[in-house]
Amino acid sequence: MIRIFENIDISARNSFKVHQQAAKIVEFDHNDELSQLFAEHIKGEWMALGGGNNILFTRDIEPTLIVPCNCHIEILSQNENSAHIRVGAGLEWDDLVAWSVENDLWGLENLSLIPGKVGAAPVQNIGAYGAEAKDCIVNVEMYFPEQGNFITLAAEHCNFAYRESVFKHTLKGRVIITAVEFMLSKQAQPKLGYGDVTAKVEELGGVSLKNIRDAICSIRRYKLPDTAVTGNAGSFFKNPIVSTTIAEALAAQYPDMPRYGTSDPHSTKLAAGWLIDQCGLKGYSEGNVGVHHRQALVLINTTGNATGSEVIAFARKVQSAVKEKFGIEIDTEVNIL
Ligand code: EPU
Repeated sequence: MIRIFENIDISARNSFKVHQQAAKIVEFDHNDELSQLFAEHIKGEWMALGGGNNILFTRDIEPTLIVPCNCHIEILSQNENSAHIRVGAGLEWDDLVAWSVENDLWGLENLSLIPGKVGAAPVQNIGAYGAEAKDCIVNVEMYFPEQGNFITLAAEHCNFAYRESVFKHTLKGRVIITAVEFMLSKQAQPKLGYGDVTAKVEELGGVSLKNIRDAICSIRRYKLPDTAVTGNAGSFFKNPIVSTTIAEALAAQYPDMPRYGTSDPHSTKLAAGWLIDQCGLKGYSEGNVGVHHRQALVLINTTGNATGSEVIAFARKVQSAVKEKFGIEIDTEVNIL
């Protein structure tokens, strides 16, 4: 079914809860409705919208927003080691993680409670606690309006990297992701590198798929704001990747500074949350916007009345403070529109 909404406030469709108007929103339930949708309901510019969890609207939206609502989980094939599944783009990401844990399938548990829809997961290659969506994605299925056809792109062609993919570059604004295929494991594959995850799992009774999910849900509920209560978009900034020479020079000055190796020995990832925290900004707010008091990487709509441009102005101040103190540029992770 196709549902159309015109001239509506989109505060309920973005997790930052900013009030802006969208000229038109079109939701669809089935992939075979897409050609009709484009023929009959989309005249000019359009863009795909998932749960609105990684986007900051700074103005009213003229392009038609297209929202996939197909939520089906299908097991395409399985054997004693693994299951290959196909999931509709409209499913809530955490419902997929819950389903995988209930079905004893390993791979997604560290990504518990990440807000957003399945179709958005490949775009920024969501990641947390030592896991990334790309570790389990095998194919991404999408509709290509320029050609009026569907394409299935294998993961190796999606250019996945830390919070990166082809969907943020050459395919940006050109495709609508309609489904994602994952390969999940039936063999235990715990990823427990993070100190507080390991400790929490032990506290819950030891390593099991359910305990890892419960541990991560509990850590996230403690550290991150509840979007139902406080508008936010998760990490507002990306962790910066700098040259290892710069990271070493900073580490000599700040011995407690967290540093993470990358696949390139010449590059080191730093923790933007730590850098912002060291600038004394954790819990700081101005007007309707603030830095979350438990995770400095997250900006929040403190009063519920923040506008997108107010958030941007605040974010620029945070970026300048980090640049001034450490000489490091931190980029936004959130898509600013
Ligand atoms: N830190 C501070 N102060 C802060 C925040 C962090 O000192 O206010 C320090 C921590 O003590 C730790 C280091 O910085 O030593 C890293 O912090 P954390 O483990 O909380 O993770 P992160 O790098 O800040 C990333 C993801 C999060 C994800 C966590 C856990 C990005 C942009 N963010 O944050 O993802 O939950 O790792 O794996 O990579 C999201 O994308 O919305 C998100 C929440």
